[in-house]
Amino acid sequence: MDKKWMAAVAVLLGILTYLFIGFAHHSSKMSSIVKELQGHRGNGTQRYHFVLIEQERYNPYWEMVEKGADQAAQEYGIDIEFAGAVRNNVNEQLNLLEKAIAARVDGIIVQGLNEENFTPVIDKAVKRGIPVITIDTDAPSSQRLAYVGTDNMAAGERLGELVVETTGGSGKIGVIIGSDQSANQLQRLDGLRQVVEQHSGLEIVDVRSSNISHMEAIQQAASMLREHPEIDILIGTSATDALGMLQAAKSLKRDTLTIIGFDTQKETLAAIRNGEIEATIAQQPYLIGGMAVKLLYDHFQGQPLQSEYYTEVKVLDSSNVEEGESL
Ligand code: BGC
Repeated sequence: MDKKWMAAVAVLLGILTYLFIGFAHHSSKMSSIVKELQGHRGNGTQRYHFVLIEQERYNPYWEMVEKGADQAAQEYGIDIEFAGAVRNNVNEQLNLLEKAIAARVDGIIVQGLNEENFTPVIDKAVKRGIPVITIDTDAPSSQRLAYVGTDNMAAGERLGELVVETTGGSGKIGVIIGSDQSANQLQRLDGLRQVVEQHSGLEIVDVRSSNISHMEAIQQAASMLREHPEIDILIGTSATDALGMLQAAKSLKRDTLTIIGFDTQKETLAAIRNGEIEATIAQQPYLIGGMAVKLLYDHFQGQPLQSEYYTEVKVLDSSNVEEGESL
């Protein structure tokens, strides 16, 4: 009887041990599946989940940023998700940033559109352990890890020098900026002003915002030209503006205006080729997207980052416009 009893206890213990091991194995598997679903690296798989938040999705400039980021993500085995407002909208951008924080992604890349609104939300991400890299527009007083993009003030100064070079230092200027909410646009305007102020023959007579919309750029440029017929130079500081200004000039039959823009939209390059637009300041959106992903990845590998990574701008005119195709 005793032997039987002991054998039964041993079998029971065996069953319990088997069940316990099975259960432990199952729950560890479940927890790694849950982690994977939450975007964390699974055991040994090392796949990070990054989110890149843009000012406007389906905008040709941001599409180039995406391409560069996507290429780098593939290279480093990173899952990257792109988000952005369909139409320029600060609040929507901030909501997307909040959502990325709530989803506990591994890293965030975001345009630091303006300090006042973005700094507290960027800092919230960092406090929760999510490193943030700003691109295109910096939020330097936030706790972001690094900034990757154009030095916008310097680019504005370069724009000013370009105006001086192409006009010989005299003329009345109308400026269309992308947005009066975006620090990068205001910095470019500042840089431009600083150079213009050093030339008594140049004067900025009006500044309007296009809200990075082609239609608004046309309307604002047309209304500016009607109000100030003395304007003979039009300057645009975002990717969308030069083409709107060109269309307004055409419809008002002002074909002797000097038009200088920003970035490398296909139609901008074509208009430089046929002489309708004088020149453009080309940023490097593809490089910016790629570098941001790489740097965030480097950070996870324990590499220290510097605070700013300024990408160069290039002046494109009819002599070198083809270089713009690859930016
Ligand atoms: C700016 C971006 C902006 C884009 C609009 C670029 O010049 O750097 O901030 O979203 O123009 O088309």
